[in-house]
Amino acid sequence: IPKFAVFASGSGSNFQAIHDAVKAGKLSGQAVLVVTDKPGAFVEERARIAGVETFAISPSTFSSKELYEKEILQKLVELEVEWIVLAGYMRLIGNVLLEAYPSRIINIHPSLLPSFPGKDAIGKAMVHGVKVTGVTVHYVDAGMDTGPILAQQVVEVVAGDREQTEERIHAVEHELYTKTLQQLWSR
Ligand code: GAR
Repeated sequence: IPKFAVFASGSGSNFQAIHDAVKAGKLSGQAVLVVTDKPGAFVEERARIAGVETFAISPSTFSSKELYEKEILQKLVELEVEWIVLAGYMRLIGNVLLEAYPSRIINIHPSLLPSFPGKDAIGKAMVHGVKVTGVTVHYVDAGMDTGPILAQQVVEVVAGDREQTEERIHAVEHELYTKTLQQLWSR
């Protein structure tokens, strides 16, 4: 079964969903590491409770993205990580990791890409007034939320209600990510 690392910058609800799916036997993979670029993020607490090793590493303490990613790569190699799963990791992946993990880095984004890439996709979609938005799971390349699409699911916007719309999107994310990874890893 594939060993994977989850990269996250925030709450880690997607990490949680993936970990729960593994525990429930719905996803055949092994989460061996959580990497966060935000030491103290809530995902660290989730990982601790889940019994998954965490690697908190602040990019600002490195003089370049390359050196920062080399430090991460060393840890990934040490733990024999085969796949990188981005789950709210709010940072572009650089050449070091892209070259070490070709077509082995997956991301989830809370919009129907290529609409609303980048930060606050849900807010941008609501400001734009779209009636439907959704969730995209895709391979990662050097761009911002670009890369070949693996799966998408539509979510209807609750007009004027950001909180409810966000809730719907997160619920879809948690299901779609697990399902897509399972398809990817079982073929
Ligand atoms: C998720 O909605 C994820 O799609 C988004 O960050 C959130 C993280 O939530 N990612 C992006 O916007 C990537 N551009 P979580 O920490 O609770 O999993």
